[in-house]
Amino acid sequence: MKTETTDSPRNQPRALVASLAMVLGLGAGAMWPLHASASLALAQKYSCVACHQPATKVVGPSWKDIGAKYGDGKGTAAQLAASIKAGSSGKWGPMPMPPQAQVPDADLQALAQWLLDGAK
Ligand code: HEC
Repeated sequence: MKTETTDSPRNQPRALVASLAMVLGLGAGAMWPLHASASLALAQKYSCVACHQPATKVVGPSWKDIGAKYGDGKGTAAQLAASIKAGSSGKWGPMPMPPQAQVPDADLQALAQWLLDGAK
């Protein structure tokens, strides 16, 4: 009996915090449409995900590795966007990335910034 009465008031606020965090997360996504899920959607739309995964190297380096290499001011979104557009070779391994010229500049910029921010 005692455990039940002490347990439920402890669990309820936690569930509430979790759902609040979700609501806030969704709200933030809507406020900055170029970030978060919007950019993951772009990566899916342009088939970047065929060669890139969040945390594992597949054909190309993971989003995480790209963020680690260029984030924190080590690279700019403009540089990265140019590299995606023109294609890249010899920086990560023997496999080159073909030019992604089909992606509009605004979307390239959004993808590059998303990667610099750690692909969150
Ligand atoms: C056909 C497979 C393939 C596709 C599709 C692909 N990539 Fe790549 N990507 C690679 C490979 C391989 C590398 C490593 C190239 C190298 O070593 O320089 C790479 C490297 C990168 C880099 C690092 C470039 C640098 O200058 O270091 C970024 C950023 C990147 N890709 C983003 C993207 C985005 C965004 C898309 C979708 C628009 C995309 N890639 C689509 C295979 C791919």
